[in-house]
Amino acid sequence: MKQSLKWLFFLVSLALATHGWGKVGEKGFIRLPNPAYDGKVSVEEAIKERRTIRDFGPKPLTMVQLSQLFWSAQGITDGRSGFRAAPSGGALYPLDVYAIVGEGGVEGLQPGVYHYQPASHSVQLVRKGDRRKEVASASLWQMWMARAPVIFVITSEYERITRKYGKRGIRYAQIEVGHVGQNIFLQSGALGLGAGIVGAFRDDRVAKGIGAPTAHKPLIIMPVGYKKLD
Ligand SMILES: Cc1cc2nc3c(=O)[nH]c(=O)nc-3n(C[C@H](O)[C@H](O)[C@H](O)COP(=O)(O)O)c2cc1C
Repeated sequence: MKQSLKWLFFLVSLALATHGWGKVGEKGFIRLPNPAYDGKVSVEEAIKERRTIRDFGPKPLTMVQLSQLFWSAQGITDGRSGFRAAPSGGALYPLDVYAIVGEGGVEGLQPGVYHYQPASHSVQLVRKGDRRKEVASASLWQMWMARAPVIFVITSEYERITRKYGKRGIRYAQIEVGHVGQNIFLQSGALGLGAGIVGAFRDDRVAKGIGAPTAHKPLIIMPVGYKKLD
């Protein structure tokens, strides 16, 4: 009896915890699963094993993995101050994170471009359809990128930081994106995934491909997925 009650409790908790994932809610926002704050891979191991991966297998990511990757990039890690996973000059947070999800790229999520909303740990669908090839060809035809189930694009809205720091704010935003990129690299490794990084692309074509507002200037692109096994 006790055992069956335990199971019932477990199933109800699971249903409550997963309720709403991948579903479009208010303002078109999609709630992401809560991030985990522990894992099985040490930070030392993740650093040691980190490599730029350019060969991806077709296995899709889960919503839990997608959520964790967004959180590592720009998730709020202190609810009181609103401070995030990566440092930011003056805590002005000029960066935005987009994920291009390919056809069958994430279980339970339609292909499209999703814009991360740190305050609600949710995403907003900004463009429908599989945009991976569009962004890969805009990246000097680095078509390997299009085989990753998910491609992150990090943009900067410089005005948020130059307003306070003038031209130096541009440098600050560009330093900040390096922190975000390394977080995505290490989190990918900790999840058993691999990530690549791409700086060679046509800014205007990538921005168009992800449907970003003109103020959001793409800085780095990071394809993520399972490493292809030989
Ligand atoms: C700012 C930046 C831009 C990069 N751009 C590209 C790129 O366009 N295409 C690519 O295949 N690799 C790119 N890389 C990855 C480097 O080639 C890679 O980091 C380097 O070869 C060292 O390998 P590792 O990352 O596995 O240690 C870039 C890396 C950085 C930091």
